[in-house]
Formats: sequence, structure tokens, C-alpha cells
Amino acid sequence: MSSRKRTVIDILRANPDFVSGEAISGTLGISRNAVHKHINSLRSRGYRILGVSHRGYKLEEEPCRLSIPLVSSMTRHSLFGRAFRYYDEIESTNAEAKSLAQDGAPEGTVVIAECQTAGRGRLGRRWTSPAGKGLLFSVILRPALPMSDAHLLTLVAATAAAEAVETHTGVTVRIKWPNDLYVDDRKLGGILTEVSGEQDEIDWVVVGVGINVNTEYGELPVPLRRTAASLKIAVGQLFDRSELLARILLSLEASYVATLRSGFDGALDSFRRRDYLSRKTVSVQTREGPIVGEALGIDDRGALLLQLPHRHVRRFYAGDVTLHP
Ligand code: BTN
Repeated sequence: MSSRKRTVIDILRANPDFVSGEAISGTLGISRNAVHKHINSLRSRGYRILGVSHRGYKLEEEPCRLSIPLVSSMTRHSLFGRAFRYYDEIESTNAEAKSLAQDGAPEGTVVIAECQTAGRGRLGRRWTSPAGKGLLFSVILRPALPMSDAHLLTLVAATAAAEAVETHTGVTVRIKWPNDLYVDDRKLGGILTEVSGEQDEIDWVVVGVGINVNTEYGELPVPLRRTAASLKIAVGQLFDRSELLARILLSLEASYVATLRSGFDGALDSFRRRDYLSRKTVSVQTREGPIVGEALGIDDRGALLLQLPHRHVRRFYAGDVTLHP
């Protein structure tokens, strides 16, 4: 956050009643229009600031921040509880984790942010979340696995995150192949896995997780209001994000360690129990155009199986899947 925005917040905090735009612009030596822009930008970061003409601005609520000491204490002695990098605001936790991984950061490093200015989704999409409302984090892994197994780690992470969210909140979470977390027919979160290495050996994997936790309906981007979910919207109650984060990290670690020890079968079975697409008619976007069929589940390499006409079954290792109307 810029020092000007910080000063605006300091001024508002020091004055529990209204402060005029003029007073703020005088203190900062900037125009009232610039003050207004800073106020709007602070609002997008989760600060609730009331603006009343002829009276000015009043700070009503600050974004609720994660408690890293709580997350640390819940994950102490564990691999994913060793090194936390916490940011109020960052471009993307995945981008930061990738750069740390390139520079040699150890396995288990977790990058967490309250807000991302350029959060990334799969297939070049964006991931947006109001500050202090969701979970946005990335974990660095250094598994002794071939590159051809890397995509399976997305399934491992998705099932582990789904299990933790479900156990902690009571909300049934399904997974839409390969990386989306679903509540009923709405998207609650997603996993973005990025990898670097040679063909026979992974150097690092960054597993990025984004989950809408305390986001209100009106805080979802307008185009997503019919398709996105949050735990708050689903259950009608707020959740302690720090506790949820710690539980997800512990679940991720348990699934990751079990996978390295015994292979991917456990995670694949767990995925099958949560398969959102199973038996639905879906459309897979491919370079040849959309292919429509009935989703039959996944094979033992995590590929999506699609029943096509004439008993033909086709496998998809990647792709964008939508429900066929
Ligand atoms: C998707 O739905 O396509 C995946 C979304 C993944 C979003 C998370 S938020 C934390 C991490 N940092 C990013 O830039 N993206 C992931």
C-alpha cells in the first residue's frame, strides 16, 4: 500500500467521527479528487469508509487480517508451517512463490496475501477476491517425482483442500475436474499449479489455492454472481480464516506426504468420491472445438474420461470443461 493511502487511513483512525475531504487533502498536499481516488482504492482493499457530502469520510470497518501467529501455532512441527511470507497486498502469491522457489526457497514455504492485484487463475484467467475475505496462498513443493506426475498434484491439492473445508465448515465440497472446488453448482475456489524442472525430475512446484470464505454476495464481481460461491453465502456465517488456513495446510501436507510415500491412488479415490462432473453431460473445449459427452470419472493418471457416441471413450489430460446445457 502506498504511503499516502497509509496516511489517509491514519487520519481516519485518529478521527472516529467524520473528517472532511478538504482536511485530508490539506494534510497530504493533494487535490480532493486524488483523496477521493485513494478512498475508493482503500474501499476495494476491504476498508469500509462512509462518505457523506458536506461532512466527509468516516472509517467504519477495517479489513480483518489473518493471524499468522495462530496459523504458525496450529501448524508447528509440520513441513508447511516452517516459513510463512505474509503480505497485505501482492501481485500474485503464485508469482511470488515461483520467484522464491527459483531463488532456492525450501519446500514448505507458504506465501499468503490478504489481497492480490493480479491474482491468476488457470488458462490465463484472473482470480479476484476482496481484501481480507478469502484465502489466497501458495505453497512451494520440491517432490522427487517426474514431470509427468506434476498435473496429479493439482488433484492431490484439490482433494486435500476440499476435505479440510468440508470437515471444518460442514459444507459439502465437490471438485470439478481438474482444479475447481464447488459448493452445489457454484465455484467456491480453485487450485493453480505451476511447475519447473526437467523431464525426469521436478525442480519445484507451486500450488496456489484461492477460496472465497467470508465474501458477501455483493462483493463478488458482477459477472460471477450467478456462478461463484463463498462459505459465508453458503452457510450464512463467518469463518475464522486463520484457523481454516491452518487446517487446509495440515490436510495438504498429510495428502502430499501420503502421496510421496504410497503413490497417487489414495488421492485419486478421494477425488472420485467428490467428482462434481460424474455422469453429467459436459463439453470439453479442445483445439478441434468443443467435444460433448458424458463424464465417466478419471483414470489412474487423473485424465478425464468422456463417453462419446458408439461406445467410444476419450481421455483428456487437460482442458476447460463446462456443463452441457
Ligand atoms: C482457478 O480457478 O483457475 C485457479 C485459481 C487459483 C487462485 C489462487 S489465489 C492464490 C494463488 N495465487 C494466484 O495468483 N492464484 C492462486
